Amino acid sequence: MTSGPSDTVRPIGVAVLGMGNVGTEVVRILRDHAVDLHSRVGAPVVLRGIAVRNVEIDRGVPAELLTADAEALVARDDVDIVVEVIGGIDPPRELILAALNASKSVVTANKALLADYTGELAEAAERNRADLYFEAAVAGAIPVVRPLMQSLAGDQVDRVVGIVNGTTNFILSAMDDTGADYADMLGEATRLGYAEADPTADVQGYDAAAKAAILASLAFHTRVTAADVYREGISKVTADDLATARALQCTVKLLAICERVVDPEGKERISVRVYPALVPREHPLASVNGAFNAVVVEAANAGRLMFYGQGAGGAPTASAVMGDLVMAARNKFYGGRGPGESTYAKLPIAPMGDTPTRYLVNLHVEDRSGVLSRVAAEFAAHEVSISTVRQEGAGEGARLIVVTHLAKESALAETVAALAEIEDVIAVNSVLRMEGTEE
Ligand code: HSE
Repeated sequence: MTSGPSDTVRPIGVAVLGMGNVGTEVVRILRDHAVDLHSRVGAPVVLRGIAVRNVEIDRGVPAELLTADAEALVARDDVDIVVEVIGGIDPPRELILAALNASKSVVTANKALLADYTGELAEAAERNRADLYFEAAVAGAIPVVRPLMQSLAGDQVDRVVGIVNGTTNFILSAMDDTGADYADMLGEATRLGYAEADPTADVQGYDAAAKAAILASLAFHTRVTAADVYREGISKVTADDLATARALQCTVKLLAICERVVDPEGKERISVRVYPALVPREHPLASVNGAFNAVVVEAANAGRLMFYGQGAGGAPTASAVMGDLVMAARNKFYGGRGPGESTYAKLPIAPMGDTPTRYLVNLHVEDRSGVLSRVAAEFAAHEVSISTVRQEGAGEGARLIVVTHLAKESALAETVAALAEIEDVIAVNSVLRMEGTEE
């Protein structure tokens, strides 16, 4: 540790709201690294208080730091920066707005709040000349918000594709490794503490959709909310899907995809979507296993960049919070402000029905002459071009695995509906998208 500069400067006061896994680590770093933080900021960074629901619990910090009155803590004159790590919409929304309206800077890890109320919060920050930083809201420790906002500010981002949910990546990786089904691996994730008691937000893709909305807003200078994101979760992915993927040298990943697309009239739009998709084994995202996250950014001049690391957990998420806190504290000390929300491009969101992707259609069929041509005819009738067809099994167990070229979601949906009506098609086992391949 180095000794800090003069202590005569006015300290930067910090309030921490919430003392769960992340809050506990933020408080630990603030207290253990006070001297280094002082040197990095130029002024002492002083923890003024911690808002918790129950002040009676021993949390290993001096009792006088704890308060149940978060509102009063935010309002204190000696608090300059508010760190919100409570999670959920209320009370964080009111507390963050109160802080911003008092020209205090805010650091938050709250993706759900940002994805739903980004406009309200960003406008309050702008009006009050305050910083609103949220590196920890997307992919935990992985720096991706600041690279998109600042490092790539002079480039044109065309695509952001990420594995941004560790719980679902753990489940899908375990299904791939063991051949087990979804329910068993969800149970394993719960037992090991990767999945919450109520795993809905993770497994149904809501968590990833909130992060996709934030990434798309930053990448495309357009305000995108969670409601703009097309979303499917992983609960319908079967052991059979993973086996099929393996046979095609692919795996299955829950992807958050943010893409700049051009509509038939040549106008730019953006497509933001979350779903499980086949990814070729050689794609960089295919080797992101367990609870790890990774984000691939493609920009016109930088080319392809990949960010990889721990997307959750107390200390990794606190690392991202602390980076923001140091930035906000420096800005307070030097009297400036970091870049705020940028929405000048205002690109429209492309409807999912218009979004072209490749598909794998897994059909259980009668094994007799003419079936393949009747199946192929339905694809042709809906202008969905077939890339490969593979038959597995024979007799009653015959399966056709059809992989398409790029096709519109709406055309594929019509094809699948028509396939289900063919007498020789016993069942449409599954339909999965395929990403990370050429057309
Ligand atoms: N629940 C998230 C995940 C971590 O599983 O990745 C917090 O965003």
